[in-house]
Amino acid sequence: MECWKIKKLHPQNFRNLKSTVFEFVPGINCIFGDNGNGKTNLLEAVFLLTNKKSFRKNTGYSQMLNIEGGQPEIIIQSAFSNENELMAYSMRMNDEGEERFLNNKKEARKTPSSSVFINPFDSYTFHTSSTFRRQWVDTHLSLMDENYKKTLSRFQKSMKFRNTVLAIGGKNAPNQLRAIDEQVAEYSEFLTGKRIDFLKGLNEQIGPTFKAIFAEEHQLNLDLESMFSLWDRKKIFDFYRHQESADLKAQVTQVGAHRDDYIFSFDGLNAFEFCSLGQQKMGFLSLIFAYIELFRYKFSSYPIVLIDDVSGELDSRRWGNLIRYLETKKFQVLITTANENFGKELERIPNSKKFLIEHGTLA
Ligand SMILES: Nc1ncnc2c1ncn2[C@@H]1O[C@H](COP(=O)(O)OP(=O)(O)OP(=O)(O)O)[C@@H](O)[C@H]1O
Ligand SMILES: [Mg+2]
Repeated sequence: MECWKIKKLHPQNFRNLKSTVFEFVPGINCIFGDNGNGKTNLLEAVFLLTNKKSFRKNTGYSQMLNIEGGQPEIIIQSAFSNENELMAYSMRMNDEGEERFLNNKKEARKTPSSSVFINPFDSYTFHTSSTFRRQWVDTHLSLMDENYKKTLSRFQKSMKFRNTVLAIGGKNAPNQLRAIDEQVAEYSEFLTGKRIDFLKGLNEQIGPTFKAIFAEEHQLNLDLESMFSLWDRKKIFDFYRHQESADLKAQVTQVGAHRDDYIFSFDGLNAFEFCSLGQQKMGFLSLIFAYIELFRYKFSSYPIVLIDDVSGELDSRRWGNLIRYLETKKFQVLITTANENFGKELERIPNSKKFLIEHGTLA
């Protein structure tokens, strides 16, 4: 299995991080530090490098550039390695845009490894917001499937155009809608099929993952709620024809793949309605680790796993469970916590390293 891991990271002018070289081990890297010292920023730098965007919403260059820095430019240098090779990868961001370099040559591609960000606080949002669930599926499926990502972007453009036509109206609108709906129907069929396949793969993993981490047996499922499940593009196109006058009246597309929802269930019951908050969190963590397993089946390689702020979420028994689970896995982990007590569990793990972050640098 070819698994690229991050060996070194040298951020410059990135948020509050000082120009420091962080050297990671291939196993578990535990990042300690009091609130507001730069732990999440360090994970964000790795995520930005590996996934080409931040995990923070509505964040761009101007938010990430160090507010006190002299240079109007973010530079992140890094080294990645697998069992046999070493490569240098860097990125530079300024007002004009972004450039990336692989072994000092300009490079359009991402790093050899992508990363998955886990913030257990997201559990609540995942269980309560359909928009968040949709985004979660879209983001994670896009990481695994380039065609899904491209089609989703085309679909979103077509939908935007469709909604503009609906808002403006006019006598040409029905003709325009027909042309747009040919595309919308094609993209909807493709996206819905991909979502169903993705969830099928995920659902095979969630229960066993939950058992592996928390030693309890439950049936966990994430299911798609879509009107278009198993519909072909002709049927979807015809549906939009029937829908046309209602959409024109509402001036917006009321039904479609952009409004799909996902239901997370625990032993057949809706997790949000029936589970305790703790169970919801455990279910959410299992979902993400199930995704990581699915990723490995597809690429024969693991992503880098970034886990933020678990200390506020897990009791010490569950933290121990999680660490023991991570220990059995071959992926690289960067995990942050503001709780020094959790460090004890890490002391006994071979191949783990502790970092203490103070004011954006190593203490
Ligand atoms: N562009 C920026 N320039 C300088 N500092 C910034 C910038 N953006 C954010 N910060 C600061 O970085 C500090 C560290 O943030 P970070 O989220 O990494 O903290 P943390 O160690 O994860 O804390 P917590 O334990 O509370 O989650 C914050 O105090 C924040 O104000
Ligand atoms: Mg943080």
